[in-house]
Amino acid sequence: MNPFLPIAPTKDFVAVSCMLMEDQGYASCVTSRRRVQNLSGQNLTNVPLDLNNETQFLDISYNPLVELQVAPFQRLSQLCFLKATSCGLRLINPGVFVHTPKLEFLNISNNLLENIPDLSLPLLKILDLAGNQYDSYQLPATFATLANLSVLYLGSVNALQVDLDDFDSLSDSSLHYLIIGGGVEWQRYDRGSLAKMKSLQKITLKVPFCENLDLFENLLEDVNETQTTDLELVNVLPDLCNVTGDPFRTLRTMPLVKNVTIVNTWINSSFMVMFLKNVFLSNVRMITFANITYSEDTPDGFKFPTLNHTMVLSSFILDSIKHYQYKYPIIEISVDMFSKMDYLKVSGSKINTVPCNLISSFPSLATLDLSNNVLTETGFWPSICSHTSVFPKLRHLSLSKNRFVDLSFIAQQTHQMKYLESLDLSFNSIFLDKPCFWPIHITSLSLSNNNLGNKVFSFLSQYLQRIDLSKTVITALTKEDLLQFPMLTHLFLSSNSIKVIPTDLSPTLVSLYIDQNYITSVSRESLAGLPSLRTLKAGDNPFVCSCDSYWFMTALNKSLLPDWPMDYTCSTPPSVADLPMSEYRTSRMSCEAWLQAAVALPVTMLIVLALCSAFYACDGVWYTKMLWVWIRVKRRGQKQANLLNNTTFRYHSFISYSHQDSAWVESKLVPSLEGAGLSLCIHERDFVPGQWIVDNIINCVEASYKTLFVLSNHFVQSEWCNYELFFAQHRALDAQQDSLVFILLEPIPTNSLPKKFLKLRRLLMQQTYLEWPKDERKQQVFWVNLRTMLQVADHRILKDMALELTQSASLIPDDLDPLLK
Ligand SMILES: *[C@@H]1O[C@H](CO)[C@@H](O)[C@H](O)[C@H]1NC(C)=O
Ligand SMILES: *[C@@H]1O[C@H](CO)[C@@H](O)[C@H](O)[C@H]1NC(C)=O
Ligand SMILES: *[C@@H]1O[C@H](CO)[C@@H](O)[C@H](O)[C@H]1NC(C)=O
Ligand SMILES: *[C@@H]1O[C@H](CO)[C@@H](O)[C@H](O)[C@H]1NC(C)=O
Ligand SMILES: *[C@@H]1O[C@H](CO)[C@@H](O)[C@H](O)[C@H]1NC(C)=O
Ligand SMILES: *[C@@H]1O[C@H](CO)[C@@H](O)[C@H](O)[C@H]1NC(C)=O
Ligand SMILES: *[C@@H]1O[C@H](CO)[C@@H](O)[C@H](O)[C@H]1NC(C)=O
Ligand SMILES: *[C@@H]1O[C@H](CO)[C@@H](O)[C@H](O)[C@H]1NC(C)=O
Ligand SMILES: *[C@@H]1O[C@H](CO)[C@@H](O)[C@H](O)[C@H]1NC(C)=O
Ligand SMILES: *[C@@H]1O[C@H](CO)[C@@H](O)[C@H](O)[C@H]1NC(C)=O
Repeated sequence: MNPFLPIAPTKDFVAVSCMLMEDQGYASCVTSRRRVQNLSGQNLTNVPLDLNNETQFLDISYNPLVELQVAPFQRLSQLCFLKATSCGLRLINPGVFVHTPKLEFLNISNNLLENIPDLSLPLLKILDLAGNQYDSYQLPATFATLANLSVLYLGSVNALQVDLDDFDSLSDSSLHYLIIGGGVEWQRYDRGSLAKMKSLQKITLKVPFCENLDLFENLLEDVNETQTTDLELVNVLPDLCNVTGDPFRTLRTMPLVKNVTIVNTWINSSFMVMFLKNVFLSNVRMITFANITYSEDTPDGFKFPTLNHTMVLSSFILDSIKHYQYKYPIIEISVDMFSKMDYLKVSGSKINTVPCNLISSFPSLATLDLSNNVLTETGFWPSICSHTSVFPKLRHLSLSKNRFVDLSFIAQQTHQMKYLESLDLSFNSIFLDKPCFWPIHITSLSLSNNNLGNKVFSFLSQYLQRIDLSKTVITALTKEDLLQFPMLTHLFLSSNSIKVIPTDLSPTLVSLYIDQNYITSVSRESLAGLPSLRTLKAGDNPFVCSCDSYWFMTALNKSLLPDWPMDYTCSTPPSVADLPMSEYRTSRMSCEAWLQAAVALPVTMLIVLALCSAFYACDGVWYTKMLWVWIRVKRRGQKQANLLNNTTFRYHSFISYSHQDSAWVESKLVPSLEGAGLSLCIHERDFVPGQWIVDNIINCVEASYKTLFVLSNHFVQSEWCNYELFFAQHRALDAQQDSLVFILLEPIPTNSLPKKFLKLRRLLMQQTYLEWPKDERKQQVFWVNLRTMLQVADHRILKDMALELTQSASLIPDDLDPLLK
């Protein structure tokens, strides 16, 4: 349906087409597409027994079923819509509907039922029994239970009479629309029978009357006794029927009837004059002729009857009028008579020109619908006509489904129609080339179903409040496009190729239709840019069911969406394709970033901690450190390689240690280093007896390439004071600090060092040391590193390495690695 609809004849005019009835049934019943079973036209001879229990909508039409049995319906307690038309049904087991108490819509038309079946369905709203074979309209007594029946179709080619008690069981019902007749003439109509359904508001008669026009008059008198305001007559006068008398004279005294529709009928101009005179003298407000073959049997054409009063008729609809004589009808009309006419529709009638000043001079015409003709710019605005005072009251103009091309020209012409508010140019061949200058009074424009493209926005009036650009080949919508419409409230963009709803789109927009595009998600940000929005139609888009749609699916107030949940289906990822979005479940956790972070952070920390613990438990830190030292030593070692050769040191290293640690030094250190070919100056062994210890130290240090301290708590307590002294006396040796190597036999917290050992504190804080590992495998590594160091390393490198280690291993607890801190 066209959401645009600026054109509607009267408020309560309902174009009840069959399709609409089905749509209504569908809309009122079905809550999910998955509950729809369409088995129409599948050559089934039986209704399948394994239908989903949840089925709400079942269409089994066009299958050779012959009979409806109970079994398949036993579990269908949710069934609300059942359609079984054209199935050759002769019999319906009365038990079928016992199991379907929720049925609201039942269509068993066009079958071979010989009796109207018994039905007790209190919720039934729409029942179609037309096109069957029953020979009487006698309704079963059970119809008295159809308390909510609102629409009833009855019709059989075999039912040729209406008896007085036929509709007795519906006398207390709320039936408001009856469609009756099988397209065959009735032979008898008992006066008073239809009058029993007092609640009737609309009647469609599918019965021709030619022979027995008095039956028709009786029927109208009965209709007068109901609430009927709408009367539709289908093929009321058969082709080539000689109408005698004036059967519609009765209309003049039927005060309630407001709308009369004549459908599928041959009408001669002589009959037309007679008919219209009755209408003009009646209370009828709206007259519709649809699918009429019009034949001019009066030689001087059609002359409107002249009346000396103004009539109440306000709407006139001519839809699909064929001219039997293949010539333009001659119409003589006194526009003054139609002083109350405000709605005129002439459509589907191949009109290509509008007679000058005929239509345009209707004094109160507010709506003109010339859709579905073959009009062009020059047909609607013929150059021979003056356009000065045209359409004095026209507010809505539909030129839909014609052959208009030139938007610029049309925009110019609308300046003449001073009150025109809305213009419908949908389904034309509009071409955009020249700039358009629109009058200020046009606030509503439809250009839907034209091949326009993204540039269309720059051809529109800034005064527009409603714009319909459905199906106009738009591929992208930008904020800038809408900036020029400060008053825009309604925008219809259905059936385009738009992928994204931009943010900050429009502060004024109240209604946005963007269904059937390529939108994959509707974001919170997009809707935040539409603060006034009350209606968003966004169904039938290829939605991605992921976190992108999480907000839309969970947080958005669905009262905004008229088409939720039916038209919202997941498209991707493939695992959920075709799943109704309303049934897609995702956890809040997995989609909300702050929640994720809130959970992920502790988890990550736990994992890191666990890894660290494992790493530490396996002495990963130590190995890493040693590997690091080794790599650095090797890399920079090459540069230093010649140093040893070029100097004249007696020893590779001077080793200083405490007596307490002599066992270790003698059993491990000395063999390991001397075994590698290094020469050592050892404190106890090589010190010259009698010499002051500091002199000994100086001698040894000066004769050695490196000085190796085996640090333990003992060493610190008993030996180090000498070295503090040594360093105090030989400040110059500070430059050689690089040659100092420390081995830590046991952990020595820096803080525990006596404050006076400033040098040691500083050295240990700045310089590297090797820890003696307890683990034997690690000891191998230790020796390799130590030897390398004594041979080549420069302490500056080692210092850098130590600093780096300190920074990269910051997770190591204090007490375990105090000197790094
Ligand atoms: C029932 O089905 C027939 C055949 O499809 C259709 O023409 C008719 O309009 C349907 N009745 C209603 C009330 O929709
Ligand atoms: C059911 O299927 C038939 C033919 O397959 C189709 O014409 C009809 O529109 C479908 N009905 C619905 C409600 O989808
Ligand atoms: C329908 O089924 C019958 C047999 O059950 C078969 O003879 C017939 O050819 C089928 N018709 C179609 C259109 O498939
Ligand atoms: C009939 O329908 C109306 C709404 O259409 C509902 O309020 C009412 O309860 C229904 N009556 C019965 C008997 O179901
Ligand atoms: C229709 O009913 C009104 C009273 O409501 C009455 O005056 C009028 O004569 C009736 N017309 C016919 C044709 O029965
Ligand atoms: C219309 O006029 C033709 C003759 O011109 C006549 O044969 C036919 O019966 C008339 N039909 C009606 C409905 O008056
Ligand atoms: C209609 O009337 C004309 C003469 O007025 C007559 O020739 C013709 O046979 C009649 N047609 C029918 C269907 O009665
Ligand atoms: C139009 O009316 C004729 C009878 O006058 C009928 O045969 C035809 O089916 C109708 N067309 C439509 C689309 O209803
Ligand atoms: C016009 O109205 C007058 C009284 O208002 C009436 O006497 C006369 O018959 C009417 N003429 C017609 C053609 O209805
Ligand atoms: C959704 O919006 C409607 C109308 O705007 C309001 O009545 C309703 O309470 C809202 N629902 C929720 C869950 O916020």
